[in-house]
Amino acid sequence: MTDQALIDLAFTMLERSYVPYSKFPVGAALLCGDGAVFTGCNVENAAYGSTICAERTALVKAVSEGRRSFTTLAVVGRGEDYCWPCGACRQMLYEFAPELTVLVARGDGAFVKLPLRELLPHGFGPASLS
Ligand code: THU
Repeated sequence: MTDQALIDLAFTMLERSYVPYSKFPVGAALLCGDGAVFTGCNVENAAYGSTICAERTALVKAVSEGRRSFTTLAVVGRGEDYCWPCGACRQMLYEFAPELTVLVARGDGAFVKLPLRELLPHGFGPASLS
């Protein structure tokens, strides 16, 4: 799976986003160590705080299907700026994949590639509890 293919998959998820409140669709695609890919979109709620982001949708889909090894995440939006993952998503991803590569796209398709460790330096993970 190429970076571009993962980005393309994430873009296909924008139409599945449920965003009646923010009108800000986000799509994600998460590549697992075994080559499987899990997609996600943001799903909002009238109780705003119950909203789940696209990245966490993809992550919980993957973990609930037995995957715990991840190599690359693509996250995309339609905006002019890159669709940076929120802090909660960075933290959730760090739990399973501190070495994750993250692809972040903007609406025109341009994307940047960077390590999760750069997005979440000095992260708190499972080892922090020992
Ligand atoms: N959103 C995501 O899906 N991922 C992020 O990392 C940032 C924010 C969603 C949540 C909400 O539905 C909308 O974007 C506006 O915050």
